Amino acid sequence: MLVVTGATGALGRAIVLQLLERHATGEIAVSVRDPEKARDLAELGIRVRRGDFAEPPTLAHAFEGASQLLLVSSNAASYGGDPIAQHRSAIDAARVAGVRRIVYTSHMAASSRSAFPPASERLGRPITRHVRSDDDLRAAMIGRGMPIRVIDVVLGLYRASRAAEFATVDPTLRHMLGRNPSSMRDLIAKTIG
Ligand SMILES: NC(=O)c1ccc[n+]([C@@H]2O[C@H](COP(=O)([O-])OP(=O)(O)OC[C@H]3O[C@@H](n4cnc5c(N)ncnc54)[C@H](OP(=O)(O)O)[C@@H]3O)[C@@H](O)[C@H]2O)c1
Repeated sequence: MLVVTGATGALGRAIVLQLLERHATGEIAVSVRDPEKARDLAELGIRVRRGDFAEPPTLAHAFEGASQLLLVSSNAASYGGDPIAQHRSAIDAARVAGVRRIVYTSHMAASSRSAFPPASERLGRPITRHVRSDDDLRAAMIGRGMPIRVIDVVLGLYRASRAAEFATVDPTLRHMLGRNPSSMRDLIAKTIG
């Protein structure tokens, strides 16, 4: 059985729907924080069990019988949770449940040095670029009432972008797709001409 976490989120749900085209419903199960949000999946015959990375005991039940686990990283940092601890708990629970293969989505160009804590000429019109310092942005976001932990995530994203972390294309992607991946530049060109 293949268990998918985060199936009430954008990525997890899209993957479950893709899996349904290739596998019998009985081969797919989801582990979600709120089973009510996955009611439609249950109605399709998919096993829905509650699993919260922040409550490890729930994961034993949610991962029961899994041979493979798709672990969609949680957005815990944005609500004050510890994503690393959460994902460790999920991996530990998967091992105890006898999962043989764990696929983890992580984030682009993940590395221990990443600044991120857990696209012009094609438009045919001028684009003005204003550079604001991180301190300036931080002050503006605080002024708008954004929680500090969310600000840290957003500024980490900008720092990582400046360091070109997201420009990296991991060779694994080509292997998984069976073709060369499209670049963001190509995608934008195709979308807006
Ligand atoms: N979307 C992007 O552009 C992007 C970019 C880089 C990285 N990512 C990473 O990829 C992940 C998936 O993206 P997405 O767009 O699908 O995000 P999403 O729609 O926010 O989905 C996140 C999923 O994680 C689940 N989750 C949160 N905390 C959890 C916990 N403690 N235990 C179990 N599940 C938990 C959420 O459950 P609920 O439905 O109950 O909230 C939701 O199903 C994100 O969490 C983020 O780490 C996303």
